[in-house]
Amino acid sequence: MPVLTAQSLTKIYGSSRQTTATRALSGLNLEVDTGEFVGVMGPSGSGKTTLLNILATIDTPTSGSVEINGVSPAKLHGNKLALFRRRKLGFVFQDFNLLNTLSVRDNIALPLALDNVEADGIRRRVGEVAARLGIAHILDKRTYEISGGEQQRVAIARAIVHRPAILLADEPTGNVDSKASRDIMEAFADLNSADGATILVVTHDPFVASFCRRIVFIKDGKVFSELRKKDGRQTFFQEVLDTLSVLGGEYGDPARSRA
Ligand SMILES: Nc1ncnc2c1ncn2[C@@H]1O[C@H](COP(=O)(O)OP(=O)(O)OP(=O)(O)O)[C@@H](O)[C@H]1O
Ligand SMILES: [Mg+2]
Repeated sequence: MPVLTAQSLTKIYGSSRQTTATRALSGLNLEVDTGEFVGVMGPSGSGKTTLLNILATIDTPTSGSVEINGVSPAKLHGNKLALFRRRKLGFVFQDFNLLNTLSVRDNIALPLALDNVEADGIRRRVGEVAARLGIAHILDKRTYEISGGEQQRVAIARAIVHRPAILLADEPTGNVDSKASRDIMEAFADLNSADGATILVVTHDPFVASFCRRIVFIKDGKVFSELRKKDGRQTFFQEVLDTLSVLGGEYGDPARSRA
C-alpha cells in the first residue's frame, strides 16, 4: 500500500512571466510504500529540497498532487493542516531544531504532550524510542550537553515518537562527522527494519544513501532512475557511486571513499 503518492509535481519559483522564474520540479512522480526506506539523491539544484518541502506540506506545488495516507494536504487548511502535519508526518532537519531550554526527554515527548497523551503513556513511549535510538542514558541531559550525533538521534526520536505515517529527512547528516553519520543512518535503518517505520531521506552523500533500501535519483526536477538494494550495503554503495557518475552534476561535499 502506498503511504505517499506524488503525481506530476511541478514547482516554479517566481512568476512564469518573470525572466527569473525557476522550474525546480518538472512533472515528478514518486510512490513510497508502507515500510520502505527510500533515499532521494541528485545533483545540487536538482529539486530535492523543493520536493521534500512539498511532501512535508511546508510548500505547495505549482501543479500536481500529493497524497499521504489517502489524504491530500493541499485540501487542508489552518488547524486541520497543522494537525495533519503534527500527527501524520515526522521531520528531521540538517540542523536538529531541538529546543535547548528543554531536557532531551521533554524534547522527545513534545509531539505527544501537544496531543494530550497521558504522562504514563508518554513515559513509556519515550523510553521505548530512546532505547531504540541508543539515547536512553542521556534523557535527563540538556541538548547543549550532548554531541551533534546524539542531538540528531534525539531529533529522530522526536520525529518518530508519535508513529507518523512517514518520516521525512533533508540531509540529516549534513552537520555531523562521519562516525555520527553512521550512527544516525544505523538508527534510521533499525527504525525501518525493527519498527517498520517508513522513511524518506534526502542526501547527497553516497555513504549515507547506502543505508537506504531504495534510491530515487532526480535530475532536472524529475526522476532519472532508481536503484534497489539486493546485496549488502558495500555493493549498494558501489552501485550508487556508479549511478551518480552517470548522472553527473555537483554534489557539494561528498565523502565518496568513506565506506
Ligand atoms: N525559494 C526559492 N526561490 C527561487 N528559486 C529557488 C528557491 N528554492 C530553490 N530554488 C531553485 O530551485 C532549484 C531547485 O532547488 P533545490 O533547493 O530544491 O535543490 P536541491 O536539489 O535541494 O539542491 P542542493 O543539493 O544544493 O541542496 C534550484 O535551481 C534553486 O536555485
Ligand atoms: Mg537541498
